[in-house]
Amino acid sequence: MNVVNLAQMLEFSQKGDSRGHLVIVEGKEDIPFDIKRLFYIFGSKNDIVRGQHANKESEFVLINVAGTSKVKVNDGKGNEAVYSLNRPHTGVYLPRMVWKEMYDFSDDSVLLCLASTRYNEGEYIRDFDEFVKLVNEDE
Ligand code: TYD
Repeated sequence: MNVVNLAQMLEFSQKGDSRGHLVIVEGKEDIPFDIKRLFYIFGSKNDIVRGQHANKESEFVLINVAGTSKVKVNDGKGNEAVYSLNRPHTGVYLPRMVWKEMYDFSDDSVLLCLASTRYNEGEYIRDFDEFVKLVNEDE
């Protein structure tokens, strides 16, 4: 199984000093794409599952800037991996066409999502069976 095709953990540079921490994420430098959009998710209860979709166009980097959560990634071909987001200077890169679920949110979780595209609902696949069909008919 090639985990890099599913997702990849990233570690960002920090410029901490006696005043506190500062984490730097530059598009095309620290992550594989230019950042067109960001959104963030907070206030999701521990038993909530978010995501449950794949994107035809968008790539994402997810960073828990506060608190913790988990991201489960599935390629629709039988490969699955779980990433724990629990440090503000690490993130997970999600390429196009992977099924993702975010869950296990801590009460203080603030999940920052960087995206390679502007929002377009038309590029979302929100049905898992449809996703599996699409990724397997590519071959
Ligand atoms: P949704 O994709 O269900 O969130 P998540 O992946 O975190 O579970 O998005 C929730 C709502 O917000 C949905 O109506 C679409 C809308 N939305 C936007 O309008 N713009 C955006 O950039 C995002 C991510 C969502």
